[in-house]
Amino acid sequence: MNNILESPFVREMCHITANMYRMGFDERNGGNISWILEEEAVRQYLDPAEPLRTLPLSFDGSELAGRYLIVTGTGRYFRNVERDPQANLGILRISPDGASCQVLWGFSGGGRPTSELPTHLMNHIQRLRADPLHRVVMHCHPANTLAMTYVHQLDDRAFTKTLWQMCTECIVVFPEGVSVLPWMVCGTNEIGRATAEKIKETRAVIWAAHGIFAAGRDIDEAFGLIETVEKAAEIYIKIRNTPWMQTITDRQLADLCQTFGLTPREGYLEV
Ligand code: 13P
Ligand code: ZN
Repeated sequence: MNNILESPFVREMCHITANMYRMGFDERNGGNISWILEEEAVRQYLDPAEPLRTLPLSFDGSELAGRYLIVTGTGRYFRNVERDPQANLGILRISPDGASCQVLWGFSGGGRPTSELPTHLMNHIQRLRADPLHRVVMHCHPANTLAMTYVHQLDDRAFTKTLWQMCTECIVVFPEGVSVLPWMVCGTNEIGRATAEKIKETRAVIWAAHGIFAAGRDIDEAFGLIETVEKAAEIYIKIRNTPWMQTITDRQLADLCQTFGLTPREGYLEV
């Protein structure tokens, strides 16, 4: 059996969590990541017939039956993942009936998966329905995105259009827009269901006064989406109290989409 600490997925999780910590997106234990792995990749590093523990799921996860995921641990600090992956990460397999998951590796010392596991799994279900190549769900607390949720209308269209106007690349990175949820208690099935409902349409869902959830086919895509939203929010926070001399117009946004062969969210541009 190969050394799992040298697997591409453990190495990538170490790399991204360290990076997100350094960017200030994940203070203390803030943020969590889950990544669906292919069975053949996992089998090179562990024997799935030897689970360490079984944990119940609080909702029906049967659409993910048999799926393997690498997940960050609850209460764990992103800045420590690189130093001790086995304590801060774990590999799960969803049971055939979707009522529980087995820990196959990690969460050493009695650790458990992130408290946002219901939201992650519900979002994986929705994104896999939308895109069979979907694999990653990522959550973090980037400061400018949070700040924007205090001073901007929490309407999907209005929020999206402001972000699109802040950087030329935004509409190219998320032509479907972003969604925004009002403040809710985190770590619950309710916020999981509400997020999953929104993530059907947009790969980024912003939680007011809390953070962002993003989905992608790989770590780069999910993280790239978060970085782009956060950069746009930063520009908005920098300029919102000064008079604007100009912005990117809806016509210009439509021209960008045409050039890049993208379809902007229907009804969002007035051209
Ligand atoms: P966990 O430590 O349980 O992953 O929670 C962190 C967080 O960001 C909750 O929304
Ligand atoms: Zn959070």
